[in-house]
Amino acid sequence: MSKNMFKSDFPIFENNPWLVYLDTTATAQKPKYVIEALCDFYKKDYANIHRWSYMLSEKSEEVYDNSKKKVKKFINASSIQEIIYTYNANYALNILACSLECSGYLKSGDKVLLTITEHHSNIVPWLNLKEKIGIEVEFIAIKDDFSLDMDDFEKKYDDKVKVISFTQVSNVTGEIYDLEKIWKLKREDTIFIVDASQSIPHMQVDVKKLNADFLFFTAHKVMAETWLGVLWGKKEILSNMKSVFSGGWAINWVKEDSYRQAALPSRFEPGTPHISWALTLLKAFEYIESIWGYEAIETYDRELIKYTLEKIKEIPELHLVWWTNLDSRIWVFSFYLDNFHSLDIAEKLAEANICVRSGQHCAEPLALRLGISSTFRMSLYIYNTFEDIDLFFEELKKIIK
Ligand SMILES: Cc1ncc(COP(=O)(O)O)c(C=O)c1O
Repeated sequence: MSKNMFKSDFPIFENNPWLVYLDTTATAQKPKYVIEALCDFYKKDYANIHRWSYMLSEKSEEVYDNSKKKVKKFINASSIQEIIYTYNANYALNILACSLECSGYLKSGDKVLLTITEHHSNIVPWLNLKEKIGIEVEFIAIKDDFSLDMDDFEKKYDDKVKVISFTQVSNVTGEIYDLEKIWKLKREDTIFIVDASQSIPHMQVDVKKLNADFLFFTAHKVMAETWLGVLWGKKEILSNMKSVFSGGWAINWVKEDSYRQAALPSRFEPGTPHISWALTLLKAFEYIESIWGYEAIETYDRELIKYTLEKIKEIPELHLVWWTNLDSRIWVFSFYLDNFHSLDIAEKLAEANICVRSGQHCAEPLALRLGISSTFRMSLYIYNTFEDIDLFFEELKKIIK
């Protein structure tokens, strides 16, 4: 067992020595490096951007640009013009779905394909369009081993499909989907969207390898602030699209009776953006680089996953949704226990300072398909230790007794 080298970088644990935080899938704790950079920024450099005539504004503009340059590098985008900042993953997809509709990419009768494991953020915006303009929304099944059912995909991928929108990693099962398979089967006339909200904290995400047309994620799950989301889109498509939102800074000119939308990416970013939250994303990615990147995260995650999968075997009444292959999962585990409600389990664990989440984890169609009304989810990250896992299982054993 290797010693945890990262925990001391996170002040929350110094200030709450008894804390066993097993809820990173909901949101990640922030390293000192991010927290201090945010404080320094407010103390030294903060001003509104796009007003270049004075130094503070120039500095803030540079921070905003550098943040996008870092995102570009992390996801292997071609240009920062392809990177749009929004509020979170939910907003990113709402903007995208409605902009595709108002730009004529989606019309009545067109079909959107999702997986049954999607988070609600990648379901509800499409259901809204179903209600508004009459698109169809269909779900691809998963197989017993929780991989995508490619036979079901090929059956449902008919001429009406104009959008495929899949998560790269499930926030319930931790399963990593092999999305590179999809683009090999994808037609030119289909837009391929990837939800990277759970993958980007854990693994290298590469829009070119995925051959995606759009990709989105939420910054707080990768150690930056809440209320910042990233929407990346291929420039060739984005530049032909109208934005569903408009207003200040998203325009080239405005007259009394008309306006022209601005160039990319401002067209999709009306109003004053979250400059300081953009800084936190820059710093969070710098922090990942400083700990030797995703290689370090993935090496540690293999160790903790292996350990957790062994510990599960000690409690026969405990059911994991789902027992996936070590190499195709991240460190997210959803459980149910015979004869216990998952909310009661989460409350009992909370009494022992162990933080987990219970419910359907914003993936109700998956819960319905599996016939499991509620689970409690334990999720790990670089600041978790083997002792955290031991405490979780010891407490579960006590609860069962
Ligand atoms: C896979 C996935 N997509 C999207 C989201 C939505 O993130 P946000 O609530 O920050 O918009 C989540 C949050 O749990 C998620 O796990």
